[in-house]
Amino acid sequence: ISTRLVVDSDFVISALDRRVFGAFVEHMGRCVYTGIYEPGHPSADAHGFRGDVMALTRELGPTIVRYPGGNFLSGYHWEDGVGPQEARPTRLDLAWLSTETNQFGTNEFMDWCRAVGVEPMFAVNLGTRGPDQARHFLEYCNHPGGTALSDLRRSHGYEAPHGIKFWCLGNELDGPWQICAKTAQEYGRIAQETAKLMRLVDPGVVLAACGSSNHGMPTFGQWEDTVLEHCFDEVDFISLHTYFENPHHSSAEFLANIDQMNRFIEDTVAVADSVAARKHSHKRIMLSFDEWNVWYKARTLDDRRKPGWPQAPRLIEEVYNHEDALAVGGALIVMMNNADRVKTACMAQLVNVIGPIMTEPGGAAWRQTIFHPFAQASRFAHGRVLRPVIRSPGYESKTFPEVPYLCACVVHDDATGQTAIFALNRHLSQEQEITIELRGLGDQQRLVAASELHHADMKAVNTVAAPDTVSPRPNSRVEISGHLVTATFKPGSWNVIVTT
Ligand code: AHR
Repeated sequence: ISTRLVVDSDFVISALDRRVFGAFVEHMGRCVYTGIYEPGHPSADAHGFRGDVMALTRELGPTIVRYPGGNFLSGYHWEDGVGPQEARPTRLDLAWLSTETNQFGTNEFMDWCRAVGVEPMFAVNLGTRGPDQARHFLEYCNHPGGTALSDLRRSHGYEAPHGIKFWCLGNELDGPWQICAKTAQEYGRIAQETAKLMRLVDPGVVLAACGSSNHGMPTFGQWEDTVLEHCFDEVDFISLHTYFENPHHSSAEFLANIDQMNRFIEDTVAVADSVAARKHSHKRIMLSFDEWNVWYKARTLDDRRKPGWPQAPRLIEEVYNHEDALAVGGALIVMMNNADRVKTACMAQLVNVIGPIMTEPGGAAWRQTIFHPFAQASRFAHGRVLRPVIRSPGYESKTFPEVPYLCACVVHDDATGQTAIFALNRHLSQEQEITIELRGLGDQQRLVAASELHHADMKAVNTVAAPDTVSPRPNSRVEISGHLVTATFKPGSWNVIVTT
């Protein structure tokens, strides 16, 4: 098939907020314990942080990491996870029916973030708890000193305040599965009052209210409307969560999830802006897509909960295949093409639990297929996202009459002069001959890098024994003439071209 992509340096969607390359660490399964934290592991440092996982995380390139949950958050007491480790209580975690030892908590996470070089995104429990603990937690973390809570932090060995900027006001409180789920009215009021107190403690914080747990929630739209009716003035962001599934066992249908994600973003923006309109406000609420990924293979109740209150059990350790990597690449393209409103996003999660990185306790760590599109996007996407004009044939899916085979975005960095093109060929049996016209970006473009992620088997996976089965390879079928790039993309492939 033949496709065409045109961008012009003057037609800009927005500067890209690099916080869209976020990840998520929840106290769930083996994400923390035997994931990022495993004292006694051969690669562990003095803190007990796995060195192999830190190295892979740096390579993956998340910019911000959300913590400590997730559903876990809605029953969490932050006080349990600070101070001398031997004095910390062991608790039942009602979200995942696990035993939580609290050997890892806020200060360990901050140490880990500093060691890896990422920004933390924290969340306050608005399930079993409310505004009072939220303001206390923020005071513990961010107040310089001279109060009981800030001095408590100092006595724990953290003299300087943590300066945590980004805070989520609870997690998925619209979901009946959530510990102490709420109606939109109840949550909207609590979010508003919590935000008010948190801003009084630290006016520098950035706050995200919970949107819907997914686009298909029966309360979607109404939830955002009511919640923002209450807390519009107090918050900066509304969150979105989505996990791609494959109910039709069809790769073509599965890859149409990407367009669903785009629709979810458009719908959320529409509701948020209608609240702004009613309030005669110029303020625009931004979107924090703070949980997204593929998750459907390890989704039965057995995958989520094991009997006997185990510690760090194997929960939802989804093994990702090639088509999952394509979906992840497509999701990144969608979010970058919505860079004017999606300013933060977190791939959920980082390690073991629906993670791009897998580990064995005491053993190896390796990259799942979905690691690669994320790492490449985080590495190459800097600067301004240009509005892509795409001409591509498409196919009909159960959800959309026309799904273009080509899904692409273009990001230009004025600082380096580099232009990065990310493109998915959703045609599963035919190659794509693409012509890319880069207008206003320099008349004599040069190729910096070109790679393709492709496998003949859409179900191919990476394992500890064969960790590079699905990984990017150079694409030699890319040519440049002046400002025109021509390339051939294999069927079912994720492609990256960088020019200067
Ligand atoms: O990421 C796994 C779980 O999915 C999170 O705990 C929850 O927020 C979502 O439902």
